Amino acid sequence: LAQLNVLAQSAGKLYFGTATDNPELTNTTYVAQLSNTLDFHQLTAANSMKWDATEPSRGTFTFSGGDAIVAQAQKNNQLIRGHNCVWHNQLPSWVTSGNFNNATLLSIVETHCSTLVSHYKGKIRDWDVINEPFNDDGTFRQSVFFTTTGTSYISTALRAARAADPQAKLYINDFNIEATGAKATAMVNLVKQLQAEGVPIDGIGLQSHFIVGEVPTTLQQSMQNFVNLGLEVAITELDIRMTLPETPALLAQQAKDYTTVIQACKNVQRCVGVTLWDWTDKFSWVPGTFAGQGGACPWDENFAKKPAYNGIVAGW
Ligand code: XIL
Repeated sequence: LAQLNVLAQSAGKLYFGTATDNPELTNTTYVAQLSNTLDFHQLTAANSMKWDATEPSRGTFTFSGGDAIVAQAQKNNQLIRGHNCVWHNQLPSWVTSGNFNNATLLSIVETHCSTLVSHYKGKIRDWDVINEPFNDDGTFRQSVFFTTTGTSYISTALRAARAADPQAKLYINDFNIEATGAKATAMVNLVKQLQAEGVPIDGIGLQSHFIVGEVPTTLQQSMQNFVNLGLEVAITELDIRMTLPETPALLAQQAKDYTTVIQACKNVQRCVGVTLWDWTDKFSWVPGTFAGQGGACPWDENFAKKPAYNGIVAGW
């Protein structure tokens, strides 16, 4: 069967999957395809496990949104990637404006990661423990976490996650590490430093929010560089956007680009799986974030397959 997860598993991968979000689960047509395990054997919560959703005030945890995504996945025996423990975006203001000192902020990070990962213990295969720690030039992003604790927040979060669910694979996830270069090198160096310090780290997530015609030619090499450190890798947030309107030429190039990404994962043995950052243009984050752009998903706004779907098929 030429369906996305069937083909991914035939290629030795653990899953082909997709992000989804709570409001989308009220659309029965959407949920029917989301539940099609021939295409999707893995789900990621696009928003509802983030810090603002899960610890809106200090020490008060709310898991209802994340729990609904987990329940949806479990109905169909789909794997779940946890997203995420520590990120500079979608933070509640009590974290960003708290003016906490080093020790207090580290304890806040530890409590957040520990409580979040514990809540889902045994239900989540991989956690994006750290999301987007780097600037594009490879320097550390000046988040409240870095400016207050240096890189200590990274080791604190990873150790807390390991203690909370020893079976979960612990990832650092970022964008613009899909090409070799300063940012990917910075990630390699961070992993080496963590490993030297005995900090748990199992995988690197390559978000892969690409632009039609601009998939990096060094994608496979960059993945291999992370694998060479003893880690697994995953394509965690794949979409390939274009300047609207869609044209037959752009859709054809997009299909080729999807093929290129899938082939890179296929060729790297320890690339464990691929996750779309939602599968339909109806619910893609792209138009709301990148003005004038869209069409990034393999299914259109009416849930019809685009050439990109067959591009993925061709890649496996
Ligand atoms: C996006 C969600 O898809 C949007 O709904 C939300 O408004 C903003 O965040 N990198 C990430 C994801 O790691 O968490 C982001 O998700 C997309 C970019």
